Amino acid sequence: MAVERTLSIIKPDAVAKNIIGEIYSRFERAGLKIVAARMLHLPREQAEAFYAVHKERPFFKDLVDFMISGPVMAQVLEGENAVARHREIMGATDPKQAEPGTIRADFADSIDENAVHGSDAVDTASQEVNFFFGPDEVCARTR
Ligand code: TYD
Repeated sequence: MAVERTLSIIKPDAVAKNIIGEIYSRFERAGLKIVAARMLHLPREQAEAFYAVHKERPFFKDLVDFMISGPVMAQVLEGENAVARHREIMGATDPKQAEPGTIRADFADSIDENAVHGSDAVDTASQEVNFFFGPDEVCARTR
């Protein structure tokens, strides 16, 4: 299995609930290492660009409004099979469908305020990592 990197965002609802550490613990327990991290309050244009793939969807404006409603915590996670492993511990998009014990089942209130983002494939992961972090901002963790 390959060592991969994936982009994680702790969304404004979860930051407001003060559970960044709780979510980080879940990453660490799953064997995912944090190799870059930054808190930021997204400008509208950046949130729109990040979710551009959804721009024709009916929920797009609400999604952008939500993502800019407060600070987010963005991080790059590294590990074996990191993209799929991270999606697994996040749980399904709709917390009502998410497996018990996943981040969204435990902490998300609704499909539109669902606590976390995770890249959905290796190619989008690399684009999303580059969207938030420059090459010098991602650290090598050799031990
Ligand atoms: P999507 O990429 O389908 O899900 P995921 O975050 O699990 O990769 O959708 C992106 C975000 O858009 C999702 O996290 C929350 C929002 N969204 C809605 O608000 N309503 C919806 O019906 C869907 C499908 C997504």
